[in-house]
Amino acid sequence: MDLMEKIFALAKRRGFIYPGSEIYGGFSGFWDYGPLGVELKNNIKKEWWKSMVYDREDVVGIDAAIIMNPKVWEVSGHTKSLTDPLVECKICHKRFRADDEEQLKKHGSEHDGQSDWTETKNFNLMTEVLLGTTEPKQKAYLRGEITQGVFVNFKNVVDSTRVKIPFGIAQIGKAFRNEITAGNFTFRDREFEQVELEYFVRPDEKEADKTFEYWKKVRMSWYVSLGMSKENLRFREHEPEKRAHYAAKAEDIEYKAPFGWSEFEGIHNRTDYDLKNHNLKYKDEDGEEYTPWVIETSGGVDRAALFFLLNAYHEEKERVILKLDPRLAPYKVAVFPLLANKEDLVKKAKEVYELLKPKFYTAWDERGNIGKRYFAQDEIGTPWCVTVDFTTLEDETITVRDRDSAKQERVVIDNLLEYFQNKLSL
Ligand code: GAP
Repeated sequence: MDLMEKIFALAKRRGFIYPGSEIYGGFSGFWDYGPLGVELKNNIKKEWWKSMVYDREDVVGIDAAIIMNPKVWEVSGHTKSLTDPLVECKICHKRFRADDEEQLKKHGSEHDGQSDWTETKNFNLMTEVLLGTTEPKQKAYLRGEITQGVFVNFKNVVDSTRVKIPFGIAQIGKAFRNEITAGNFTFRDREFEQVELEYFVRPDEKEADKTFEYWKKVRMSWYVSLGMSKENLRFREHEPEKRAHYAAKAEDIEYKAPFGWSEFEGIHNRTDYDLKNHNLKYKDEDGEEYTPWVIETSGGVDRAALFFLLNAYHEEKERVILKLDPRLAPYKVAVFPLLANKEDLVKKAKEVYELLKPKFYTAWDERGNIGKRYFAQDEIGTPWCVTVDFTTLEDETITVRDRDSAKQERVVIDNLLEYFQNKLSL
């Protein structure tokens, strides 16, 4: 199996990610996150919010509605310009992205190497919904980017808080695109989650350039600080003709995935494109009025989850280890009684479990032998396993086994909370 197949199988088997609507044959571009996947995803979002909002004084958060007045999308240019180039196979009428050379070649081989494509046309990715009780129903859109929710609330945030330029508005939420071809597991979905910062600066090219470089550095360091290998990351600047309609400058952070270098966060200079279109201005303390420029950092949670899983996957002799940063790992600790049929051990282990559970997401396991339990936790990335053994009953110490080194040490139960708090730097 190649790495993608291994991750796909592990994700399903251990409850990270399942194909959407699987019992009805699935639904292309939609995925469901299982008990461990929701933890991984929430931990990614929690760490992002912490570093982008809580650790800063110049950023506030919002949570805007998914469905907005359809005028928003006309004014923002999305109904016209959120498009991908599409071609159709004249033989079987399947449709593909015109810029996906590999897919086109692969498809050609399904027709004995022959290919006959239509002219390329632009296909709009906005997802339409129909609302209301009377016919004709009102057409609206599921948002194609979460960003417009920030712009339409720009004045609300300025009026209701004490933010002053330069400042940022952060948001996390679902976005929807009617992608021509979804694929590469959660890489290209039709429903996905974004983490975005819109950072407003004075309308000054030099300041915008400086801010752009600043956010590039901050965002790259964030991925590295959470354990992404530096050699699997790089920046890539977009050629002018490949930029989104709103961007004067765009660079991606890319990950070296098994299917090639792939975007998982974009840093964009949107200039005054959006605020000007929405007719929004900012008045500073001296009464000067202007339209701020926007530097944006826009990442995808589903791509991040996939890339963190790929980056964490290790095979060592007979064990599989997900070397996830402990802050991202679904469970922080697992607690086991050495033997499941010794009442004293189980009782004591339950006490330890109850002690840890309110503070850290903690797993309980008493099945099989201790080696199998360790391996099962390694495979889902649990950084530490705590075992209650016969020595525990004598001296109130347990063993803590480290996932990556497999080393064990004895810790006094009374010190356990502090021990893990320090490990997680809480
Ligand atoms: N507001 C700017 C914006 O939406 P984008 O480059 O189109 O920019 C930003 O998207 C991020 O959203 C991407 O880097 C990616 O992580 C994520 N994303 C975009 N389309 C996606 C899709 N179809 N499936 C999963 N994630 C997607």
